[in-house]
Amino acid sequence: MPYPPGWLDFSLSRTIRFADQPLPILLRGYEQFGPVFTVRVLHELIVFLIGPEANHYITVSNASNFLWRESHFRDLAALIGDGLLTTDGEFHRRSRQIMLPAFHRQQLEAAVDVMLSEVHHALQPLAKGAQLDMYAWLRRLALRIAMRALFGLDPHSQDARRLDAASLFEQALAFYATPYPMRMLRGPRTPWAKLVSAARKLNHMIYREIAQRRASHQRGDDVLSLLLHATDQDGAALSDSQVRDQVLTLLFAGHDTTTSTVSFMLYELCRNPNVTQRLLAEQDRVLKGQTPTAQHLLGDAMPYLELVLDETLRKYPPAWIGPRRSIDAFELEGVSVPGDAHVNYSSWASHHLPHVFPEPHRFIPERFTAQAKAALPKGAYVPFGGGSRTCIGMRFGQLEVRTLATEIVRHLSFELQPSFQLSIRQMPTISPKRGLPLTVEAR
Ligand code: HEM
Repeated sequence: MPYPPGWLDFSLSRTIRFADQPLPILLRGYEQFGPVFTVRVLHELIVFLIGPEANHYITVSNASNFLWRESHFRDLAALIGDGLLTTDGEFHRRSRQIMLPAFHRQQLEAAVDVMLSEVHHALQPLAKGAQLDMYAWLRRLALRIAMRALFGLDPHSQDARRLDAASLFEQALAFYATPYPMRMLRGPRTPWAKLVSAARKLNHMIYREIAQRRASHQRGDDVLSLLLHATDQDGAALSDSQVRDQVLTLLFAGHDTTTSTVSFMLYELCRNPNVTQRLLAEQDRVLKGQTPTAQHLLGDAMPYLELVLDETLRKYPPAWIGPRRSIDAFELEGVSVPGDAHVNYSSWASHHLPHVFPEPHRFIPERFTAQAKAALPKGAYVPFGGGSRTCIGMRFGQLEVRTLATEIVRHLSFELQPSFQLSIRQMPTISPKRGLPLTVEAR
C-alpha cells in the first residue's frame, strides 16, 4: 500500500534539518499535506499524524492498532529492557497495574519532603548570587531527587558517591542525545560501547541493591521498595530483572522531562517579568513567606502557577514525539496508511497549530483558564500523551515542577545572560541546547 503524501524521496539535507529542527518541517508538512503525511528521514519513511483528531485517534480511539516496542522506542531497550515504554499488550497492562500505587497520593506526599529538602540544599550556595547554567544545575538536582525518591539512595552519603549511579546514568543517556548516524556505529569507544558499559555497571549496582533489600526485608518510601513488594490482582510479583527494567524506565522517562520543563519555564519567566510578578503576588497571598507544604503543592492552591505550567508544556512539551508502529493499515481524515509503518504523533507540532492555539509562539498562560481549557477540542493538548498509556508519572512530574519552580522563584531573582539565544535540542526530549545561563541574586 502506498504511503500518505509528503516528502518521500531521499534527501540528506532534509534528514539533517529534521534532526536539527523538526518543528518547522512538521508545521510545513501539516500546511502542505494536511494532518497525515510522510517524511523520509535518512532511509526511513515516517508517517506523522498532527492535530487534535490525529492525537485522539492514535492515543485513545484506535490505540490498540499501534505498538510501542516495534517503534523507535525499541532503541531504548538496550538501557531500560522491558519497561513500560518498551512493551505492549497484556505484559504492559499488568506491569502498569503493579506500578500505579507508586504514584498514589501517599507516595507523592512523601516525595514532596525529598523535593523540598533537595532544592533547599541546592539553593544554599546560590544565596550569595552567582552566574550559572541553570539547566545543568536543575539536571543534577532532578537526578538527586530521583535517586532518593526512586531508589531510596541518599545522594549525599559516602555510599552513593562511591556508586555514583547518577553519572553512570548520565553516561548512558548521552547515547540518546547523539546524532542518529553516530548512534548506528558499533565497536570500541563508539557511543554504543559507552552505553553498553554504563548499562552493565548500572545493572550491577541495581541488582546488588535489590539483593540487599530482599535479604534485609528493609522497606522504605521509595519506588524500588514498593515494586519489590508489589503484586498484581492475581498475586504475581515482579522478578529482579522486571524491577530493574521498571526503575530504570522511570528514571529515564522522568529525569529529562522535568528538568526541561522547569528550565523552559524559567526561560519564559525571564522574558515575561509581568508573569513572574504575578507568580510572586500569588506566593505572597498563599504562602505568606512560608515554605510550601504538600497541601499547597498537590492541591490547586496556586492557580496562576498552574496556568504557567500548562503554557510551558504547550510551548515546550519535552516528550515532543510519540513513536509507534502500526499493526494494520488504517484510514484517517481520508488518507490511507499502511500496516507495519512507523507512525508518530507530535505534541510539539500540534501545540503550534494557529487555529487551535492562536499566536502559538507567544507565551500566554491565560490560554489555560478553566473556561478556555474546556473549550479546546479533544486531543488538542497532549503534553502527557493520552488514553490508557498516559504518562504514569504525570502527577509526580507536575509536583516536581511546581515544587522546584516555587522555591526557585521565591528565593532567587534571575535574568538571562545578555548574549544568550535559545536553541533547542530534541533528543531524547526537547531541552535548551546550550544550557540556560542565568545571573541569579537572592530575593
Ligand atoms: C513534566 C514531566 C513529564 C512529561 C511532560 C511527560 C510526558 C510523557 C508523555 C508525553 C508520555 C507518553 C508518550 C507517548 O505517548 O509516546 C509519557 C509516558 C511515560 N512517562 Fe512521562 N512525562 C513526565 C514525567 C514523568 C515522570 C516524572 C515519570 C516517572 C517518575 C514518567 C514516566 C513515564 C512512563 C513510565 C511513561 C510510559 C507509560 C506507559 O506506557 O504506560 N514521566 N510521559
